[in-house]
Amino acid sequence: MKFSNTLTYWYLQNNRELPWRKTKNPYFVWLSEIMLQQTRVAQGLSYYLKFTETFPTVFHLAKADESTVLKMWQGLGYYSRARNLHFTAKQISDELNGEFPSTYKEIIKLKGIGDYTASAISSICFNEPAAVVDGNVYRVLSRYFGIKTPINSSAGIKEFKALAQSLIDETQPGTFNQAIMDFGALHCKPQNPLCESCPFADSCVAVEKKLTKELPVKTKKTKVRNRFFNFLVIVTDTEKTILSERKGKGIWQGLHQFPLIESDKNIKKETLVSSEEFMNLFPEETTISLFNKKEIVHKLSHQHLYTQFWIVNIKNLPEATISWKEINKFPVPVLIANFLTEFLTKK
Ligand code: ADE
Repeated sequence: MKFSNTLTYWYLQNNRELPWRKTKNPYFVWLSEIMLQQTRVAQGLSYYLKFTETFPTVFHLAKADESTVLKMWQGLGYYSRARNLHFTAKQISDELNGEFPSTYKEIIKLKGIGDYTASAISSICFNEPAAVVDGNVYRVLSRYFGIKTPINSSAGIKEFKALAQSLIDETQPGTFNQAIMDFGALHCKPQNPLCESCPFADSCVAVEKKLTKELPVKTKKTKVRNRFFNFLVIVTDTEKTILSERKGKGIWQGLHQFPLIESDKNIKKETLVSSEEFMNLFPEETTISLFNKKEIVHKLSHQHLYTQFWIVNIKNLPEATISWKEINKFPVPVLIANFLTEFLTKK
């Protein structure tokens, strides 16, 4: 049987019932596809429901403050996705009358939308035969065809896109795309794939050559950078603190954080309080204690953040203008949100 027929037949019996599959409205499909990048369906689902309830149309999303959007995104990570989402919602609302573009060629011009998302939206909503290639698709195709080209090389990206494109069912491209992703997520899983009950087992190269565990191939590229963060959690006698927005282009742009002193290794209290940055921040006497006795290691894709939260009690500090009562209003990185949950229950 043809690859796409076997796949679609499997999908008919096994597909997941998900809210964004009940619609062809490109706004909802766009939201779901952006949320599901780097996020598992089980985790993305609650965010999707919350978002669509708060912002039922692209106009609602466009009108929201960026900090509200970031606050709702908190926990999903990769915050540039949320900032781009908001930017593009404003563009669609203001320049396109709220009308989502309807072809791959137009959709890919939007900020925050690459080949994957443009293919997903144009195939699911507008029936355009554009093949999606995500992590699931790489896995399914590399195993079934026994392809060892690294999936994170430019040759690999080209090869797998062309292969997926040659396999797509042009009469139902949206179904084909979602079927291959579901098949990868549920059946041809990274660990313990269900080869015994696989409809492709008798023609799968990886099964035949016992290569399932080795495929797909990924080259090790970037070295992880270790960073050492010391957050200064200020508590004044009047219950005020400092929380400021991160500027610049980094991962946490637009989110808020406590004053931060970065060091080149984990440091002790004596080293911290005698540093120039600390002395500049606190000309007056402080009482300081380490909140987490063991460093917290927060792992991002290319950085490991070794983090210490220092509680700094000080009588009065004019720069501390944020009341502890309203601290939860601000969008913060998960690392800080987790700290706050623990700190506020003990405080
Ligand atoms: N992962 C991301 N988007 C998906 C979709 N539409 N179907 C299945 N898995 C997905």
